[in-house]
Amino acid sequence: MYDRERLTDPDVLRHSVLDFRQMSTFVQNPLIIERAEGVHYWDINGKHYYDGISGIFVVAVGHGNRRVIDAMKTQMERLCFAAPLHATNGPAVAFADLLARIAPGDLNTVKLLSSGSEATETAMKLARQYWKQAGKPTKYKFITRYWGYHGATQGALAATGTPSRRVPFEPFPTGYVHIPTVHCYRCPYARHYPECDVFCAEFLRQVITLEGPETVAAVMVEPIGNTGGILVPPPEYLRILRDICDAFDVLLIFDEMITGMGRTGRMFAAETFGVTPDILCLGKGLSSGYAPLAATIWSDRIQSAFWGPEEAGIEFGHGHTFAGNPLSATAGLAAVTEILERDLAGAAQRQGARLEARLRRMAECGIFGEVRGKGLLWGVELVRDPATREAFPADVRIGKRIGAEAEKRGLIIRHDPDWIALAPPLITSDDELDAMCDILEESIDAAMAAL
Ligand SMILES: Cc1ncc(COP(=O)(O)O)c(C=O)c1O
Repeated sequence: MYDRERLTDPDVLRHSVLDFRQMSTFVQNPLIIERAEGVHYWDINGKHYYDGISGIFVVAVGHGNRRVIDAMKTQMERLCFAAPLHATNGPAVAFADLLARIAPGDLNTVKLLSSGSEATETAMKLARQYWKQAGKPTKYKFITRYWGYHGATQGALAATGTPSRRVPFEPFPTGYVHIPTVHCYRCPYARHYPECDVFCAEFLRQVITLEGPETVAAVMVEPIGNTGGILVPPPEYLRILRDICDAFDVLLIFDEMITGMGRTGRMFAAETFGVTPDILCLGKGLSSGYAPLAATIWSDRIQSAFWGPEEAGIEFGHGHTFAGNPLSATAGLAAVTEILERDLAGAAQRQGARLEARLRRMAECGIFGEVRGKGLLWGVELVRDPATREAFPADVRIGKRIGAEAEKRGLIIRHDPDWIALAPPLITSDDELDAMCDILEESIDAAMAAL
């Protein structure tokens, strides 16, 4: 199908663009993955890597899963496309039904999509149309958090609060308000938990009041933030957000792209924290990466504004050509069934405890500021001095150095200048997890030795 020998040629590679990567550097030393099995990758040169980050928080059931592959093969022979404008298909209906059954509370209406950005865009469009149809047309603003990430398209990016992702594309549409994120280790309000009474959540009350509750459509958050290094909120944080949203008749949207599908030890972080949103956005682990797949799921209350006679013209005015694609839905159906039947959420709890214990031991290296996570989703904030929390100088980029050393030694992790994250597939065995941690430990030593 293609000439394997030419793939690493910089003149061939220069026609490609990776996500958020400087291609001039990448073409000099490209990582081209050729095959994968379980938690293992092999690149085009036959070098082995452990997948310490499930692709990118995606491959929950591991690579090469037979149930998913066989289901997709069968579906490919039967039907690969049915236009979501005038028809649906068996896998899409069955998958929506499954998601409605397992989603918490009355989250019973499912729109299947192809990417996380589509899912958050869909949630925000749904919220705006909902309020128009519910008789409150002035509610149009979205409150999201600095350091949050909700996707790469214009609306999702307007909601995103990570400067490096936003700035090149400003200005954005109006109607997006950001509040500081929850970050107990580096509290934006310089307070301390629990004496702070979770002020970062309470602050939302002030913001809604000042913006005018009659203008606010929804609050959207990731239950656990990724950017910043796996920011886990205090246990009561999301409950407080829920109560404030209810008090002001504002919708609450959870972006569970990373935290969904068993990752935090329950099927959804909504269950881990015991808080049900009005709209739930899923992607990544939803198909475990076997096909592009995402979903936006909403409550009966919201759906009641969209359900009526044809002539009322209140249907959700939104769609995508590949929404509910039969092959993607088949992948989702098989992957989610695998997670449920093998209790991979339970596995995330067990292996997460093992990973946490190992990371806490590794803190002896002397540059771990904070180890934080839930289930099988863990981050480490790296600092020059854990006693004072002093960060490394900006040019050190210690997390990037550790990531590069790990890649050299055959481990792929998520790395930023000041933090690293691990979130291996939920099927990772004890031995595999230990092997990943051994490589990480060596990589930290190597990065520190080179400082
Ligand atoms: C929390 C969160 N929301 C949304 C997205 C966007 O998803 P996608 O890249 O599939 O569009 C991501 C992607 O990393 C994410 O982590």
